Amino acid sequence: MREGYKGTGPGAITPDGCAVELYSRLPVGDEPEIIAGVAPRGARILELGSGVGRMTHPLIERGFTVTAVDESAEMLERVRGARTICSPIEGLALDEKFDVVLLASFLVHTGDPEVRRGMLATCLRHVADDGFVLIQREGEDYHTNVPRERVDPRGFTVRIASTEPIGDGVNSVFVEYFFPDGEWTQTFRTRPLTKEQFEEAMDEAGLKVDRYLTEDRIWVKAVCRWGDGGAGGVKAVPVG
Ligand SMILES: C[S@@+](CC[C@H](N)C(=O)[O-])C[C@H]1O[C@@H](n2cnc3c(N)ncnc32)[C@H](O)[C@@H]1O
Repeated sequence: MREGYKGTGPGAITPDGCAVELYSRLPVGDEPEIIAGVAPRGARILELGSGVGRMTHPLIERGFTVTAVDESAEMLERVRGARTICSPIEGLALDEKFDVVLLASFLVHTGDPEVRRGMLATCLRHVADDGFVLIQREGEDYHTNVPRERVDPRGFTVRIASTEPIGDGVNSVFVEYFFPDGEWTQTFRTRPLTKEQFEEAMDEAGLKVDRYLTEDRIWVKAVCRWGDGGAGGVKAVPVG
């Protein structure tokens, strides 16, 4: 397990506390729509932290070619129709570039700044010159509107039970999932980032926000800081 991360409930649990059985049950939201709204037709997508393929499968159905990366082999066993790569995101070095690199599920908020740097470096390393990176950030009230609960009409409840500062700008979050026939919990570390702090982290990683795709600024399209943002033309070389 990663330090500070824990999961309980039936079935396999990933190093960051996610339950494979739980993610196999959770329905996808508007993520594929948002991604398909900006990704070029038939784009090659590198999906980092794919889990069981909750987003992967609808993306494949929309005609994208997906390479799914996750450090949990148990998660990847459930992915269908995509190439899978079992690896930590940080440090992934494929000899290949992608039209779109997807870092969703708030992974950019990971508590350890070294891991975040590694993840963003992976994004930069794998994005094609005319491609872009899609990032899903936390919403602004994620740590203030707690506890909060969502009763899903499909018959389950998600409860963000607590978020506690544990020092160095990191919070420990405890989430509960209730299904009629089972319960799961996840404890994980996350670093809330204001818009400015997020943009600073992107800048440090050699990335820049091209635009926020949603009004709540949760979904972000980012490009290489030295590139042309996919507009064509000559790629500048970073200096210093
Ligand atoms: C919260 S789940 C989300 C899965 C998927 N994106 C979804 O929305 O259904 C996070 C996934 O990312 C994986 N993960 C988290 N940190 C990772 C890392 N540093 N390297 C590789 N995989 C990671 C976990 O194993 C887990 O499958």
